[in-house]
Amino acid sequence: MKLLKEIHAPTSLEDITHKCKAKWFTWSDDLLSFQDQIEKEFQKYGQPEILPFFGMAKAESYNVDLQRINGVFSKKISEFSTYLTKIKIKEEVHFFDNLICDGFSSDTFRFFFSCLRASLSTRRSDGMASLYIPIGEVKGSNEFPVHSDLYIPTYLWNIFDEILVGDNGCPLLLPVDVLLNKVIKEIKNFPDDKYEYIKSVFHERVLYNEDKYMELISLLHGKENWWYEEMKEKINKYVFKIKFGRGQGYLINDRKWLHGRSFSTEGVTSKRLHRLVF
Ligand SMILES: [Fe+2]
Repeated sequence: MKLLKEIHAPTSLEDITHKCKAKWFTWSDDLLSFQDQIEKEFQKYGQPEILPFFGMAKAESYNVDLQRINGVFSKKISEFSTYLTKIKIKEEVHFFDNLICDGFSSDTFRFFFSCLRASLSTRRSDGMASLYIPIGEVKGSNEFPVHSDLYIPTYLWNIFDEILVGDNGCPLLLPVDVLLNKVIKEIKNFPDDKYEYIKSVFHERVLYNEDKYMELISLLHGKENWWYEEMKEKINKYVFKIKFGRGQGYLINDRKWLHGRSFSTEGVTSKRLHRLVF
């Protein structure tokens, strides 16, 4: 049972597709023919719950109780989640189009993503094996400079929904390889030990009690660092800024790509994206 099928890049994003060496996907025919059942099941179930999970940090996730849904439907969900378990990407990046579209509303999408999350965690008997983390609202001007989440799961699947127009709050992507071999290498006298530390967070298996996210953020973006301005300038030189529309987004290996959000003069809403890690 296929979840996705490969498609051509939308014309407006051909250039960036080339630069990122990305492949484009949309829902498979198998999934599109299952769409009505997802909608029906959602009407019966209602909105997914938000549950807390405890690992290296407390995380919240949308969730659907698979015991409460129709058995045949649940089996199909399991077949689609099997497809996700077979995805093995490193430097390759996948882009998506039309995942939220006519007949696949934001609510239906959230319900389906929550079902996938529940199925992935159930098969691994680990609540943290997959998370669909609710997004917070940010008021006023803001940005989220490039970083890796370094959750236990490796893959980050972000699909944009209520997006800002123009250059405001655009998704950003930067290969880890470019960070290590171009960005930092171009900063004269960058401390060797800090370089090795940054390199290590992408290679080491991140343990429950070893969350290195904050350390990475402070080394890359901490204003107290003497390399702060230079790092910012070099990242801006190499970062990919991608104007994804509604229903578009990316799937990356979080240890191979950094992601972020460009500066925005307005706030961003909690409906801006759907984020599944697995
Ligand atoms: Fe993130």
